[in-house]
Amino acid sequence: MSNAPAVPIALRWQGDASGHLEILDQTLLPTRLTWLACRDVDTVVEAIRSLRVRGAPAIGIAGAYGVVVAAAEATRHGLGPEAARAHVLARAEQVASARPTAVNLRWAVERTLAVIDGKVGCDASAIGSTLLAEAQTIHDEDRRLCDAIGRHGAPLLPPGGVLTHCNAGALATGGAGTAVAVITTAWDSGRRFEVFADETRPLFQGARLTAWEFVQRGIPVTVLVDAAAGHLLASGRVGSCVVGADRITACGDVANKIGTYGLAVLAAAHGVPFYVAAPSSTFDLSLDDGAAIPIEERSADEVLRPLGTTVGAPGAAAFNPAFDVTPARLVRGIVTEHGVIQPVTRQAIRDVLGAG
Ligand code: MRU
Repeated sequence: MSNAPAVPIALRWQGDASGHLEILDQTLLPTRLTWLACRDVDTVVEAIRSLRVRGAPAIGIAGAYGVVVAAAEATRHGLGPEAARAHVLARAEQVASARPTAVNLRWAVERTLAVIDGKVGCDASAIGSTLLAEAQTIHDEDRRLCDAIGRHGAPLLPPGGVLTHCNAGALATGGAGTAVAVITTAWDSGRRFEVFADETRPLFQGARLTAWEFVQRGIPVTVLVDAAAGHLLASGRVGSCVVGADRITACGDVANKIGTYGLAVLAAAHGVPFYVAAPSSTFDLSLDDGAAIPIEERSADEVLRPLGTTVGAPGAAAFNPAFDVTPARLVRGIVTEHGVIQPVTRQAIRDVLGAG
């Protein structure tokens, strides 16, 4: 029996190109481990929208497999080559626009579709096989990127506890995570430190998912309400903060889960280094700065009735942006699979990403 620590997986493809996508339903964690079979695109889109699968790299991978699901639909409908291609393109657009902020989703859908560019006359099942190979490549690559991010990021952590926000772990990626991989790689190298996870209102990704991942790994973790972060940082117990990202612009502004910006301001106020960990697929160099990032707004119910329990006064409105933007000046470094961008400048971003 292997002694390797348990790293959960967020999603997997079952069978050949006529098979289906399986998603670990994260809305049910940590109490129930339930796999959702996605045999049609509507189910994939619903799973992304309702955060059954979530986290920027993971929704990118789900999106890539969603394109394969579209081809499987075309095969089942008996569509000819031209109709099959049109079906895949139309369904792919629905997948790509399921959530707006994480650039990985559209990036992965477009990368997957690119492999059938110019391949006219292929029947639906041939299209599906070509798409599946690319989706699996994206998934495999993400596993390796997570490992590289962990390796580059772990040495950055100074002594002291580490605080993370939301979930940028295995559940949010195709591998060991981004911010969580930095922490677990440091831990696996023998270092010992306190790990803190913000609960991450309103959907509790920190309390439900990040904490669950650390518990699975046998790494002690302490959950705090988001509002306790300032008090914790003032106590001196935290040596660094590490978070993931949904989109990073050319100047290094970072969109991530709502509350990240506030945490970065608090970290700066207490002289605690604030790191972001993300693969190159999370960079959107077409956007100059964070003002241009589309910020998803979600339903009032998530704030007023979290986890199905009424906490907000009936009749009250709610403000529920799912993400915020942390300006580059508050970010000490960005850990990518290619290395660390530090200090965070336009030129350093282009140099590390090899964008010229
Ligand atoms: O709304 P979510 O749960 O999809 O938001 C996820 C985050 O904000 C993560 O920090 C980000 O996607 C990075 S995941 C490696």
